[in-house]
Formats: sequence, structure tokens, C-alpha cells
Amino acid sequence: MFNYKTKTQVLLSEILSKAIENNKEVVGVEINLEHPQNESFGDYSTNLAMVLAKKLGENTRMLAEEIKKSIEENKEAEEIIEKIEVAGAGFINIYLKTDYIKSVAEASNYENEFREMLAEHGMGKTVVIDYSAPNIAKPFGIGHLRSTNIGQAIYNLYRMLGWNTIGDNHVGDWGTQFGKMIVALEKYENKDVRFQISDVRKTLSEFTVDDLEKLYVAFHAASETDEALVDEARDTFAKLEKGDEKVKSVWQKCIDISWQEFNRVYQMLGVSIDFAYGESFYEKSMPGVIKMMDEKGITSISQGAKIVKFENLDDGEADMPPAMVEKSNGTTTYFTRDMATIKFRMDEWKPDMMIYEVGSDHILHFKQVFRTAKMMGWSPKEGFVHVAHGMIRWKEGKFSTRQGKTIHLTEVIDKAVEEAKNIAESSKVVKEMKASEKEEMIMAVALGGIKFNDLASDPRKDIIFDWDKIMSLEGDSGPYVQYTYSRCRSVLAKTEIREQNNIDSFGDKASEEELSLLRELGKFEEKIIEAADRFSPSVLAEYLVSIARKYNEFYAKNKIIGDEQELRRVFLTKTASLVIQRGLEILGIKTVEKM
Ligand code: ARG
Repeated sequence: MFNYKTKTQVLLSEILSKAIENNKEVVGVEINLEHPQNESFGDYSTNLAMVLAKKLGENTRMLAEEIKKSIEENKEAEEIIEKIEVAGAGFINIYLKTDYIKSVAEASNYENEFREMLAEHGMGKTVVIDYSAPNIAKPFGIGHLRSTNIGQAIYNLYRMLGWNTIGDNHVGDWGTQFGKMIVALEKYENKDVRFQISDVRKTLSEFTVDDLEKLYVAFHAASETDEALVDEARDTFAKLEKGDEKVKSVWQKCIDISWQEFNRVYQMLGVSIDFAYGESFYEKSMPGVIKMMDEKGITSISQGAKIVKFENLDDGEADMPPAMVEKSNGTTTYFTRDMATIKFRMDEWKPDMMIYEVGSDHILHFKQVFRTAKMMGWSPKEGFVHVAHGMIRWKEGKFSTRQGKTIHLTEVIDKAVEEAKNIAESSKVVKEMKASEKEEMIMAVALGGIKFNDLASDPRKDIIFDWDKIMSLEGDSGPYVQYTYSRCRSVLAKTEIREQNNIDSFGDKASEEELSLLRELGKFEEKIIEAADRFSPSVLAEYLVSIARKYNEFYAKNKIIGDEQELRRVFLTKTASLVIQRGLEILGIKTVEKM
């Protein structure tokens, strides 16, 4: 956990520390500041009096009153604090001055300054983020979509906070599955009836990734009754590892076919990952890495295979099943490639932290990998993190897929585009758009819906694919937030004063909805920090929904254009639009001017 604080948190901590400094015993008391659930209890609340009273054996409420009094006597505090109240068992509730909150909210309107302020937090640190990682010869599945969306958002969050971010796409381009693939291709060429995947015969260069997948499926079906196929595949992979020219050239073809598809997907998603050192990149370094593991004395032989055991660990951690380093036929494993990857990354980038955005089916794998890295002394200072995303479940009847097939990304995107078209059809402004503008809007909304759905709940939770929800213009969805942005923009288009970034004072005529929106706008920096700290872009996604809700409530109840209060309301509109735009940008979602 990092301890990044916003300016407000620093100021309040200082004020509170000063208020208790006469108590000599209190050195090192941590000051907690939270937003009360209910806005009427102030902007921040602290349990400081409770913590202190327990330490000193004093009466909590009395202590809280003393702290309150001491803050009220502090001249500097007066500049930001409106009032203090003691509530409940001894909570100290802090109400900030409206104009102070305004100055905090306003900060996000000055892009460069805002970025510089955020970047100070993590300056000088490096993080490697392992995400997306689809497998060659298999289509880009929906699980890899989650990893791509969440991984990219985490990348963007850390980058915003000033970290030197390195994205690495650990593509699955090595391993026994290639033995299977190559055997299947051979059988296809030899016209083995079990591998006839289409009526038209194709040469390898005409194959698409879908064809490769069909062959893969055919291999599994055939191997159920023909066990010899499995042995053949194992031997073929061994040949590949030994550098057999012919096998290697077929493998390379599969790589090329798959990358055509992956590149198309990344382009559509607007994602570009810094590096793609796939598993095969580590082929050469593996013998050396295995040797280092042998020399450390952590490997042993079991039934002809080389393994690492995780029993009776010195720090009392629970036992785990062993990990396979080398199979009995001498081929390497996925585990060993991950060890070689860590060694490479530590040498190459010297990261302070390594984050893996990979599904929850990898939990044990990464426990073993991280543990082995620890044994080897290859852990980054701030450790390894596995953000294990949950599964996707489909709402019954909403998405029919052919029985037994994995759901392909392209099918999902096609469906989202269809839904986004429905939104476009029912909109008046869209009717007046140029065709290209309309096209762009439809794509942005379709992808916005899909991405937001991936990002709106904590990555570790399973998500439900429910099209009504994903594309809802009223609920917690991408299109809802995008729609709110376009609403702000259309308000700004109608006023003469849209260029203003700030107002001198908020005045005392602001409505309840204005104040509530302003408070929320002042939390942007905090939410970015919290989202990164918890490896959960959902913190930011939820915040944007909350901004959208508050903006829409304000919009419904307050006249903006032509009102006496126009100046302040335009300021709020502008700030809301910028917070939404920058927030969505971090989530990898585009905004549209009209929809
Ligand atoms: N290609 C793997 C899969 O699809 C995920 C790789 C994750 N990253 C890693 N360093 N193991 O299951």
C-alpha cells in the first residue's frame, strides 16, 4: 500500500497533529481521514479522538472537544475549515470551506498542472505490468479482453501517478500446445478425415486464426480415442525445442497468422502494449535459469521430472503442490518460462513492482512463481501483485453462442455495435450527424459499454454480461457516463462564457445539488490514488458514475444558461466535463461530443 496524500489530506493531517501536539505520549499516532457516508456529516471525519483516548485511557468525547477547540484556535486552519463538529462516540467531523473545495476541484481544469501534481506521487519508480497475453493459434477470447482492459487501465493509473510504466504482453507462443497444433496441421495436409475442418482445402498461408482453432478442437476430439496423438504432439514439441527447422517454420507461420488477428483487435480497442516478449523469447535463457535454480538447491527430481517443492516453508506459509520445472522428456514448462521472464525483467528494467493481470485460474501458478522468485532473491522491492480477474457469466438468453464454443471477441463487439446503433437510432442529434461522425460515435459507445462493464466492478469479482445493463443510458454504464459528457458539452456550446476555467468565489447562493456536485468533483485526485493503490480501476469507474449522477441531478433542477447564476453553473459544467473526459481516458474509453 502506498501512502500518497492529496494536498487536502496533508493540510488536515498537519492541522490535526498540531491540535494534539501537547500530548507527549501521542508520537506516531496515525491520522485517519475518511469521507462520511452521509454528506451532512461533513467533508472528512476522523477517529483520532478514539484512538488517542484508548492510548491515554481518557474520555473520548472530552478529548474530541479539546481537539475541536484547539483547531478552532488555529488561524491557519481557518483558511480551509468552515466548522468542526463532534459526533457519535467521538468522531470529529470536518466541514471544509466551499471556496477551498472549489479551488481543489478547479485544479483538474488545468491539464498540465494537474498532471504534474499527480506525477509527483510516484516519481522515480518503475512498474512492469503483464497483461493481455493471448495465446497463439487460439482466437482472442473474452478472458484476454478482461486482462487487456483492466491491465491497460492499471497501466494508465500508474502512469498518471508518475510511475515509469512498462507494459509487457506475455503472449503464449511456446509450449506443448504447439506440438498439438503442428501435428493437427500435418494430419490436415495428409487428408486425415478427422482433421477436415472445411470443404475448401486451404494452404497454410491461407489459414486464419479461426481455422487454427478448429484444428485445435479437432485434435482434442481425435485424441480422446487415439492416445498415440498425444505422444506424437509431445515429441513434436520436443523437436521444436531442439530447433528442428521444419517444425519451426510451421510454428512461425502460426505466429504470423495469429498476430494479424491480435493487431486487428488491439487497433480496434485502441490499445498498444510497450513490449511483447512472448514465452518463446525465453527459450534461450531457460537452461541458464534452470541451472541457477539447481545451484540454489531448490530443485529436486521426482519420477524423472525436475520440480520445486513448497513444503515446510520457513515463514510458515501453507504448503503448496510442487511446480514442474522440466518434464521427464526434457521439455520446459510454462512455470519455468515465467521464472526466466522474471529474471529478465529484473535485469532489464529493475522494477520496484511487478503486476500481473491474469485470470483467477492462475492463482496457484503465481503463488508458486512468486514464491520461487523469493527463494531465488529475484523479487522487486515492493513485491509482486496478481490481479486475478474473475469469470464472465452470461445473462441467460441474452447471448446465444454455439454450444461448447468459446465466446469470441469479435462476436461480442458485433453485438455491442448493434446495440450502440439502437442508441443512435433513437437520438435526435445523431440524425443530423455526418455518416463518419455517426460511425465514430457508434464505435466509441459500443467499446465504451464493453470496457466499462469490465472495469466497473472490482476485477476479482465475476462479472455478468447483461446487454441491457451494459448499454443502458440510465444505469451504471459506459454509455451513461459518455452521454453525461455530451450533455455537458452541449450546455457549454450554448453559452458565451464556456472558456472559463475558474470563478472567483462560489458565493452563498449555490443550490444543494451544486454543492453536492462540487464536493464530488474535488475528489478526483483521491480516487485516482485509491484506484491505483487497490489495483482496481472500478474505484474510478464508480466515481465517474457518481459524478454523472450528480451532474444530471443538478442539470434537472437548476437552470444554467441565461440564469443569474450562470457563471458558477457553467464552471461546474466545465469541470464535470473535464473530470469525466480525463477519467474515461484513464479507463481507455473515448468521449463523444454528441450522442
Ligand atoms: N497466455 C496465458 C493464458 O492465456 C496467460 C499469460 C499470463 N502471464 C504470465 N506471465 N504467465 O492463459
